[in-house]
Amino acid sequence: MTAPQRILLTGHDGYIGSVMAPHLVALGHEVVGLDTGYYAPCTLVPDRTTIPAIVKDIRDVVPADLKGFDAVIHLAALSNDPIGNLDQGWTTDINHTATVRLAELARDAGVRRFLFSSSCIMYGMSEAGVVDERSPLDPKTEYARSKVKSEMALRDMARDGFSPVYLRNGTVYGVSPRMRFDTVLNNLVGAAATAGVVQVHSDGKPWRPVIHVEDVARAFAHVLSAPEADIHNEAFNNGADHLNHQVIDLACFAVEAVPGAKLQVLNQPGADQRTYKASFAKFARTFPGFEWKWTARAGADELARTFAEIGLTAEQFGGRNFTRLKWLNHLLDTGQLDRKLRWASAEERRIA
Ligand SMILES: NC(=O)c1ccc[n+]([C@@H]2O[C@H](COP(=O)([O-])OP(=O)(O)OC[C@H]3O[C@@H](n4cnc5c(N)ncnc54)[C@H](O)[C@@H]3O)[C@@H](O)[C@H]2O)c1
Repeated sequence: MTAPQRILLTGHDGYIGSVMAPHLVALGHEVVGLDTGYYAPCTLVPDRTTIPAIVKDIRDVVPADLKGFDAVIHLAALSNDPIGNLDQGWTTDINHTATVRLAELARDAGVRRFLFSSSCIMYGMSEAGVVDERSPLDPKTEYARSKVKSEMALRDMARDGFSPVYLRNGTVYGVSPRMRFDTVLNNLVGAAATAGVVQVHSDGKPWRPVIHVEDVARAFAHVLSAPEADIHNEAFNNGADHLNHQVIDLACFAVEAVPGAKLQVLNQPGADQRTYKASFAKFARTFPGFEWKWTARAGADELARTFAEIGLTAEQFGGRNFTRLKWLNHLLDTGQLDRKLRWASAEERRIA
């Protein structure tokens, strides 16, 4: 049993956050959330955890918000490439500038540990063999650049008494109250469950590291309580070597999880052939006691079971609620969010 800590969890209301919050609470930690609630009404399965929360934009955080915490786990972000392409300035402001400010306020408030939710996407995608934490960073999108720039800025802030640590996740899958269908395995199983067909647009050969959302929560909790010397200013690819999969494997898991579903490999010219495999040797070496609970196959089965239980419809799967870009576009088109991605009014926040 680890010592309970008082944790500020930003982005607690999102896909990963709504799984991580109850996990941290179950471990005995005292958790306060901070989120602007972009996706608050986008709930697929019940969210039973209630934690106290600061409802505000991460760009508006003030020193008082950081008082009295042992650690910050920073998840809040515009969380994929397509949103980054919508308006690059939003991703820079929210993912980078606000992260640096949050970390400065945390450091000044005496918060000892700052866990940053980073991404393996920062290596770029190439035909190169295997990327580890010393591989050159080659961010190809504003989203990926925001993660690189944030890590670099946080690195300069590390000092005695303030330990940033960078957890570079692969693509996350698994059931969450604030579900996403815009990540690879969730999307493949959703298609199998609602259309009975899983289409692979490429030849299926590209590699992707994937990680179950519950294992993300478990890994962050582990790092939170690890000795400072092991994590101070360190980057870790967050996952395990056996969690690198070719897209065709993931598609097969999806098909096998849903009785009667069919696989179509389209092998389209111009399809996304970007590929990378990540090495997770550093994580395994540093945290030898940590065991990964989930495999992609078990995760696909869990997704399929859940979709059957709740009767997931094609409308839910293809609609706007669980695809981050579509939902933000809806909030913008209906004037609920303004052109700075801020709520037009407190009322809008509630009815979104
Ligand atoms: N899901 C993945 O596959 C994956 C992979 C690698 C890294 N990550 C990183 O993990 C973190 C969480 O990802 P997720 O999948 O839960 O994303 P998500 O989009 O589901 O959740 C992000 C949360 O941050 C909040 N947020 C966004 N902008 C905000 C702002 N300006 N002020 C306050 N709150 C704001 C949103 O309301 C949302 O609740 C992100 O930093 C993401 O980049 C995710």
